Amino acid sequence: MSSSFCLTPQTYHVLTDGVRRDPEEFWLKEGHRRLVWSREPTRAMDQEKGWFADGTLNASANCLDRHLPEHGEKTAIIWQGEEADHVIRLTYRELHARVCAFANVLRDCGVKRGDRVAIHLPCVIEGIIAMQACARIGAMHVVLFGGFSAEAIADRVADSGAVVVVTANVGRRGAKRIPYKTTMDAALRLLGDKSTVRHVLVVGVTEDEVPLEAGRDALLEPLLRAASMDCAPEAMNATDPLFLLYTSGSTGKPKGIVHGTGGYLTWASFTHQLVFDHQPSDIFWCTADIGWITGHSYVAYGPLANGATILLFEGMPSHPTPGRWWEVIAKHGVTTFYTSPTAIRALMSEGDEIPGRYDLSSLRVLGSVGEPINHEAWTWFHEVIGGGRCPVVDTWWQTETGGAMISLVPGAVEARPASATLPLPGVNPVLLDEKGQPLEGAAEGILCIDGSWPGCALTIWNDDALFQTTYFKPYPGHYFTGDGARRDEDGYFWITGRVDDVINVSGHRIGSAEIEDAISEIHDISESAAVGIPHDLKGQGLIVYIVPHEGLDKAVTAGLKDQVVRIIGTKVGRYAVPEKVFVVPDLPKTRSGKNVRRLMRKIACGETEGFGDLSTLANPAIVPELIRIVGEG
Ligand code: PRX
Repeated sequence: MSSSFCLTPQTYHVLTDGVRRDPEEFWLKEGHRRLVWSREPTRAMDQEKGWFADGTLNASANCLDRHLPEHGEKTAIIWQGEEADHVIRLTYRELHARVCAFANVLRDCGVKRGDRVAIHLPCVIEGIIAMQACARIGAMHVVLFGGFSAEAIADRVADSGAVVVVTANVGRRGAKRIPYKTTMDAALRLLGDKSTVRHVLVVGVTEDEVPLEAGRDALLEPLLRAASMDCAPEAMNATDPLFLLYTSGSTGKPKGIVHGTGGYLTWASFTHQLVFDHQPSDIFWCTADIGWITGHSYVAYGPLANGATILLFEGMPSHPTPGRWWEVIAKHGVTTFYTSPTAIRALMSEGDEIPGRYDLSSLRVLGSVGEPINHEAWTWFHEVIGGGRCPVVDTWWQTETGGAMISLVPGAVEARPASATLPLPGVNPVLLDEKGQPLEGAAEGILCIDGSWPGCALTIWNDDALFQTTYFKPYPGHYFTGDGARRDEDGYFWITGRVDDVINVSGHRIGSAEIEDAISEIHDISESAAVGIPHDLKGQGLIVYIVPHEGLDKAVTAGLKDQVVRIIGTKVGRYAVPEKVFVVPDLPKTRSGKNVRRLMRKIACGETEGFGDLSTLANPAIVPELIRIVGEG
């Protein structure tokens, strides 16, 4: 193993040993040394009150102000636009000034501590600035993924009770314009009088003009120019929420996962440093959208808390030419590159010759997140992109965990291809069988986590009971991740995918219930089921079965597939549109009326036998019927 990394197996052992021996002392020390506090916490974990409960701090002061005395002139953000010469660099001092101005604009809009601010932006620096500005004044940000439909945005804005929305006139994709403001207008129209939104602030990404509603909408730029660049950070309790972020589960509507301030930030900083072997000269590029947790922890918070230089790229991996990402890495000397298996597989399919045209020698550490990475993609990433010399950190974690949980640590842990390797210090994963019994040694089972860790979510917004039932009730005494995993005799983990009804398409978490809810709006359909099946590029593909009402005429039935695609695009977003829709007379059910998804999944994969005992089904005859329909395509 190379000795150029911060940690060695020996120093890492000291760390893991320390946390095992005395977690309270370990985390209190980490909290103190990683963050600046307005009141230092005297305890790390309190079962009742949470992490660092008697400490106070501000997340934005931790990401910005603290770096100013010694590193104010260091580049915080390099933003690369789609056009080669479209580059913006901000030092920590400049970023701080912009965040303060933005925070004052929010205050002028009446935003107070504890209020929610929704952010719906393309990849522009204002996304990070807006998040930091919210944190500065103690408002919670609610970042909404750019690909959400108006209805999906409306649901989330309503649930969060956001008082201000930050959006853009448009997003850019080559010559194409993505209508951010128009989508937001449609979302707010859907909410009508029930909308809690008082102001809409519009970032002018281009010169394109968009309609502004008097009294509600304003262009941001003139407000920022007029705003003061002084804004004292609000001292927050460590357990005050920093943000809420919506994610999908196996049942019901997407839930607003709430993260706290002190614990979350400690975890983001700790894991960013360990997992990516952070060194001050690094140029850190995480390709995730800020609309997802990866963009929160490894674009916005972890790297900035650690004083890193981050790269933001507005464009696509292979647009306008294949190799665009590699060109960006070579141009900016990126050292640390963190992306998804879906992107790796897509880039791999273009061949080795394309990355071979670029000088990728600046790379030190490569990372993967969001879905299981297959052996072939891992090896290609390691060999072709990393030249065999860069560790590939496959980081397993979730929106709820706040930061990486199981991951390779460069220099300290020996890699195994396609394995997330070992739990990070302070993380105690267990594998359970279906009855909830712990499995020892080499085994495959349901992945749960024991005990707490600083990055653990606080709750679900507006629904703590759901938080408890979703994560702590399925296997009492353990946090239920929803994933399955295999562990080898040396304790290395391989994540096998979701064991619940969450479908992971290109790293986007989609709840089968979300899809089925959307389809239930189509009157001619009596029932539907969404399942995930393996997909070469996307990891999983979404397949939908629909059951039309009896007696529909042929023409209506023929139009149902298109309706399904349309309604999913409208209610959820284009990213959730299924690969295939099968029109079937019924769904396989147990005698108690539950859909048997396991069977539907297997049949959608093209399997025709080996389904086990079908006599327990209420309608076994439907099985050959489904096989026939799927077989016909
Ligand atoms: O199924 C796991 C998968 O993504 C889920 C979490 O999704 P989300 O909350 O959107 O967060 C994604 C980014 C952290 C997990 O339950 N997942 C995430 N990382 C990995 C993974 N599956 C396998 N390997 C990973 N490295």
